[in-house]
Amino acid sequence: MLELWFIMKKIHYLSGITITVFIGLHLFNHIYGVFGPEQHINLMNSFRIFYRNPIAETVLLLAVATQIFSGLRLFADRRKTAATAFEKLQIWSGLYLAFFLVIHVSAVLGGRFVLQLDTNIYFGSIGMVTFPFNLFFIPYYALAILSFFGHIASIHQQKMSRTVLGISPTLQSKMLLVFGLLVAFFTFFGVTNGFQPFPFPEKYNVLIGK
Ligand code: HEM
Repeated sequence: MLELWFIMKKIHYLSGITITVFIGLHLFNHIYGVFGPEQHINLMNSFRIFYRNPIAETVLLLAVATQIFSGLRLFADRRKTAATAFEKLQIWSGLYLAFFLVIHVSAVLGGRFVLQLDTNIYFGSIGMVTFPFNLFFIPYYALAILSFFGHIASIHQQKMSRTVLGISPTLQSKMLLVFGLLVAFFTFFGVTNGFQPFPFPEKYNVLIGK
């Protein structure tokens, strides 16, 4: 039984690394939107060569499914024993990421295969800049980015034992949380064109009920 738990943790770790590589590219792509929607689309088209080819995308989607399944099992096991603030942050951020990934990936695949839309910056941001949809989408995305960095910061705090440049592991983890806040801010800035509304192609109006 204990062996199974360790295998589950190992699988969760490996699928987590796979997804993290994609999320690094993905958030960088969103931040790059500060140079305008066309630049965001150009960069996404380049990145898609890597993550949208059938092999890479199958690996990514399998990793997402594995992460959600193993994460929910680990959450159920750890819920009662998590004691420190970082241990609690790890399990609750993981739970939110599981919820977010189910909805986000289903929405992207639905947009692509059911609505036949190119799931580019227009798809990602129309809900964020349109009232009242933004009341849902802003906290939904902000919590996802903060949970991602919260999850990594918790793991770092538990695994790291070295002080670097006089900075303790706990302070390093807190700095990762602050970095996550900055990434969230610049991601929003990037996908909303610097909080300036921009014209959306008409076909994306279906996403806001028009
Ligand atoms: C403001 C924040 C975000 C926005 C606007 C956004 C938007 C998008 C869009 C438009 C796509 C489609 C990409 C494509 O067609 O090439 C996508 C895919 C995806 N996103 Fe996000 N995303 C955000 C944050 C996140 C975060 C924080 C995660 C993970 C924790 C994430 C995970 C994914 C995954 C796994 C895919 C599926 C990739 C695929 O198979 O095509 N996203 N997202």
